[in-house]
Amino acid sequence: MPCELIIALDATSTQAVTPTLRQLQGTLKWVKVGLEMFTANGPDCVREISDLGFNIFLDLKLHDIPNTVAKAVESVSKLPIQMLTIHTSGGREMMQWAAKAQAQTAPDLMLLGVTVLTSTSAATLNETGVADTPANQVVRLGQLAVESGLRGLVCSPLEIDPLRRILPSDINLVTPGIRPANAQADDQTRIMTPAEAARAGANYLVVGRPIMKAADPVAAARSMLAELPA
Ligand code: C5P
Repeated sequence: MPCELIIALDATSTQAVTPTLRQLQGTLKWVKVGLEMFTANGPDCVREISDLGFNIFLDLKLHDIPNTVAKAVESVSKLPIQMLTIHTSGGREMMQWAAKAQAQTAPDLMLLGVTVLTSTSAATLNETGVADTPANQVVRLGQLAVESGLRGLVCSPLEIDPLRRILPSDINLVTPGIRPANAQADDQTRIMTPAEAARAGANYLVVGRPIMKAADPVAAARSMLAELPA
């Protein structure tokens, strides 16, 4: 199964990351724009990065009543984006409305579900009335997301295997928490190397600091790409 790299821009200013993105043109195809950058700069940052020739993964993790999420999906679908996230904990109806809005306004846009954030522990789930483990909740929400019409999920490397066992094979799995074998873990704890995650069944790997903070970002990206199946 082919596996691609997505570079995560955890920054507030587009100007700050543009020089590195220019260096990475032709080496990487995908850029993840998160809430930090989007809330600081608005939709213009998406257009600017798209104009540099990258596909955009807009990680907004939408979660609201079905009508509001559907309208928000409709609005952002007009931007040059190829992936968008919503929270699966919004439930079946919210996801169905979002999937319908996406199919009508941007049929090629990949709508991804975020299950349980890796910052969420069993205790956090319990406090919010979910009496189950994060691992079980991930599988439950993953299944619900696919039944509701989503085309992929964002998951930690350790969740790839349990999700692959229950999901149709055409569902895309997008995975952060990736570190080359000899790299710093930073604040990531449950990590895999690019080769391990690809072998486990990930389709896209989200990588930030190991490339953005490298002395030579292009060399860092190339060595991670070299680990992946074509
Ligand atoms: O720098 P690093 O490679 O750790 O960045 C990974 C990216 O993936 C960041 O944008 C981070 O917020 C995101 N992410 C994560 N773990 C999750 C969900 C998202 O690292 N469970």
